[in-house]
This record gives sequence, structure tokens and C-alpha cells, in this order.
Amino acid sequence: MYQEKLKFIDLFCGIGGFRVAFEKACKENDVKSECVFSSDIDKYAQDSYEANFGERPSGDITKIDEKSIPNHDILFAGFPCQPFSIIGQMKGMNDTRGTLFFDIARILKEKQPKAFVLENVKQLVGHDKGKTLKVIVQSLKDLDYHVQYSVLNALDYGLPQKRERVVIVGHKEPIMFTFPNPEKPYKSLAKILEKKIDDKYFASEHIRNKRLEKHKSSYYPSIWHENKSGNICSYPYSCALRSGASHNYLLVNGERRLTPREMFRLQGFPDKYKIIVSDAQAKKQAGNAVPVNMIKAVIDKLLPYVDASLDQTEVLKEYDLQLNAS
Ligand SMILES: C[S@@+](CC[C@H](N)C(=O)[O-])C[C@H]1O[C@@H](n2cnc3c(N)ncnc32)[C@H](O)[C@@H]1O
Repeated sequence: MYQEKLKFIDLFCGIGGFRVAFEKACKENDVKSECVFSSDIDKYAQDSYEANFGERPSGDITKIDEKSIPNHDILFAGFPCQPFSIIGQMKGMNDTRGTLFFDIARILKEKQPKAFVLENVKQLVGHDKGKTLKVIVQSLKDLDYHVQYSVLNALDYGLPQKRERVVIVGHKEPIMFTFPNPEKPYKSLAKILEKKIDDKYFASEHIRNKRLEKHKSSYYPSIWHENKSGNICSYPYSCALRSGASHNYLLVNGERRLTPREMFRLQGFPDKYKIIVSDAQAKKQAGNAVPVNMIKAVIDKLLPYVDASLDQTEVLKEYDLQLNAS
């Protein structure tokens, strides 16, 4: 049977966390998918994306005319968090001009895909007493989408990383989408950690000894976190990977840094994902990425409402129930 491909676009694509998750969900459901547009301004992210998906993302989204973007069924965007400070004072989508959220909104307005999934840091929820998120959600509703959001933690979706993110899902119809329930347990750190580690990842003897004097872990293996004030705690999982220099210094068993492959695994990227950049860039890319398992759990729940070839009986039943209830 001929089946149309489900078309998607990958905005602020980074190294393609959304794409890995979506393609996996589609493959598991025997749905054909096609990425018709991707964009990221960062040269090294583009290099990684091209090495893994065979196409180079377009650059700065603010310079791209929304009319030039191909039609698609679903839009993905893990947009950067820096423009928050100003959005809360604004009254609607047009007011958000100049923020990167506006670029998502103008593409949605022009292309009207069936659905979208956006992701951002958890702090978006409380920012400016909730006003920022309220403007974002209202702008999306004004574009005729039914919108839901939730804060999810990667730890609840099989990854040994405490990483909380707000996920915003929109659909043209009032579907009965619900966010996925937490799946436990998460993968053990032992399965994430590499066996042979280059000497360059080990902290100096001085640092190691200082840590061992201060802290004894109840777990093995564990990841040790040292905060700003020098307090150390350790868990059988990692705290959120960060893209830049951070006060939260992470050491495996108190003695060494994570390798790039371990960081990519902590974000749910499969080992076949090629890491072709420097260690510093790999850390930035892993720290910026969306946790694949967490976003796939969301996509798994949304997919039947986006793809016409999947069984719609349940979808329609729920839709009828909702109409009757309202
Ligand atoms: C939070 S990261 C998203 C990472 C992605 N979800 C992933 O899984 O790798 C945000 C991305 O937005 C990109 N970005 C920032 N400003 C941009 C712009 N004006 N146009 C396109 N991309 C931009 C950054 O380079 C960064 O890779």
C-alpha cells in the first residue's frame, strides 16, 4: 500500500535530538517520515547534523522567509532560552517580534502544520511569575492550536540524568493527548559508562584526593556534583548536562570527567550517532540537546493524532467523548 510520508521540520535542531526521537517513533510504528527543513545557526551543530543525517541545516532562522519553508505535518523546536526576559511584558504574538519564539510563531502561522512540539528549560514555567509562558501559550492558541504543556524529567523516561524540561504540545484539533506517565527504572549508569578511559579525562591526583577527603558515596558507580560553595553530593545518575562552563562540576566516581560518548548516551543518543567534533564542542552539543527518550515518549503519544495511516479508532472515540462532554 502506498503510504505518504509524514513530513516534519526541525527548528533550532542542534544535533537532532528531536529527529532521532521522531524517526525512531515512526520506524517502530511503520510510518515513513521525511525531514523537509532543518535550521541551526551554529556551525559545529550543523557539522554534527550533516555527518549523521546527510543534510546540512539552514542557518539563522530570523533570516529565513517562512513562505520558503516546505509544507509539513509537524514542527519541532527546542528553542533557546535567552529571550525570556522580555516576553512577559508582551500582549500577543506580534509583540514577541525580535524573540526566537516569534520565529516559531510566524512559521506556524504561515504553514499551519497539524501539530508541534516545543521544548525549553523548566525555568520558563516560573519566569516572570508565569507571565512569559502565558504569553507563549496564548500566542499559540491565537494561531488556532489546542495547547498543553508539562514539565518532564529525563530520569522518568529511562535516562540516568536529572534533566527537567517544559514540553509544549499543540494540535489543530482538540485531541485527547496526555503526557506520558513516568517509566521507571532508568538505565543504570554502569551501562552508560565506557570501560576504557583515556588518561586525559582523569582529574589530577590532588583534586581526587581532596574530593575523597570530603565525600564518601553510597553508590557505585556514581556521578559526583560539586556546587558553587564546594559541597559535594553523588547519585547513581547525573545532574543535568550543561552546554557551557558551569558551577556544577561533574566527576564519575569522583575521579574523572565524562567522555563525549557517555554524555551523548546520557541524552539517549544511540552509539551509532557519530561524534565528529572536539571534546569541547561535544560537551556543548550534548548539554544543549533534548533528551531523546523523554521526547520520544511524548511523540509516541502524539503520533496517532498526526499520522492518518495509524489506527484512528481510538483517536476518534476520544474526540467524540470530548465533544460530548463539552
Ligand atoms: C537548546 S538548543 C536545541 C538543541 C536541539 N534540540 C538538540 O537536540 O540538539 C538551541 C539551538 O538553537 C540554535 N540557535 C540559536 N539561535 C538561532 C538562530 N537565530 N537560528 C537558528 N538556530 C539558532 C543554537 O545554535 C542551538 O543549537
